[in-house]
Amino acid sequence: MYKIALLPGDGIGPEIIAEAVKVLDALSRDHGLKVTTSEHAFGGAGWDAAGNPLPEETLAACRAADAVLMGAVGGPQYEALERDMRPERGLLRIRAELDMFSNLRPAMLAPELADASSLKPHLVADLDIMIVRELTGGIYFGGPRGIEERDGQRVGFNTMVYSESEIERIARSAFDIAMKRDKRLCSVDKANVLEVSELWREVVIKISAEYPEVELTHMYVDNAAMQLVRDPRQFDVMVTGNLFGDVLSDCAAMLTGSIGMLPSASLNSAGQGLYEPVHGSAPDIAGEGKANPLATILSLAMLLRYSLGESAHADRIEAAVKKVLASGLRTPDIAAGGASCRCIEMGDAVVAAL
Ligand code: IPM
Ligand code: MG
Repeated sequence: MYKIALLPGDGIGPEIIAEAVKVLDALSRDHGLKVTTSEHAFGGAGWDAAGNPLPEETLAACRAADAVLMGAVGGPQYEALERDMRPERGLLRIRAELDMFSNLRPAMLAPELADASSLKPHLVADLDIMIVRELTGGIYFGGPRGIEERDGQRVGFNTMVYSESEIERIARSAFDIAMKRDKRLCSVDKANVLEVSELWREVVIKISAEYPEVELTHMYVDNAAMQLVRDPRQFDVMVTGNLFGDVLSDCAAMLTGSIGMLPSASLNSAGQGLYEPVHGSAPDIAGEGKANPLATILSLAMLLRYSLGESAHADRIEAAVKKVLASGLRTPDIAAGGASCRCIEMGDAVVAAL
């Protein structure tokens, strides 16, 4: 019996998690998946319920679970909170507490949706990139950090820092993924300016000796951003640090035309994972039934594949999503102005297609 902790979070989070739960229930009911779920307050909802974006009870439940499925966090009502109490800090803390250093962000384009991309269809047809983002280090977590008074004015500062062992483990994680794909890995850095990147490049090259079959290339991050919008299909797997990965993964997501379609996984070395859609909490449409639940449903598929080893169930979900898209059903974000369905209808259609 697998244990999955559900963290609906804020904004559209509860709506999209509800649809993923329907899919999970259908797999248990009709296809023999043995799973129990429990729901926990997190993000702004954690603050509302327990005065903390990551309540102790929630963290304990996540530690005890085989995997965590999250909706989204954040909202305008939480922006004035003290920095440590903001929903985003809860997300950063859970990543760090569970040591989920390897963040997988696929950018894939369903052929049915080629028109939804902001790039010309011939540039993105069959796009299939995997961005591997280091998630628990770099400038997000480095010290010293802060805002302080120096020479009569305030100064803000952060530290971008990576140790050899941090680079080694994310590099291995990316090479392992490249081995399961087209065996091409592009490491993205800023080694022409930053010492931290110089070390990054050196260590990635060292680790590449363990993976002679993988073709390793290097790219500066500014060029990588340009290449992503110029000719994205040149990439197979990209590996990069926390901040560069944050920026490049949003860029890659947009290539697919709908950030509402993209799942992600954050893994630790024990195989435990936190799974979440790449998109945010979309407070502007929260509660209106307009959200696209597919990124969350596809995150559930990743959860089954990467943390539970249940590939057959993952395949089943992905095939069902394909079928539903082929049938022409669209939430507003992927409807290109045409007829659209509601979040609930999309979830029901995936369940029916299972
Ligand atoms: C993401 C988000 C987060 C990040 C924020 C919400 C803290 O942008 O998951 O990409 O910067 O990592
Ligand atoms: Mg981001």
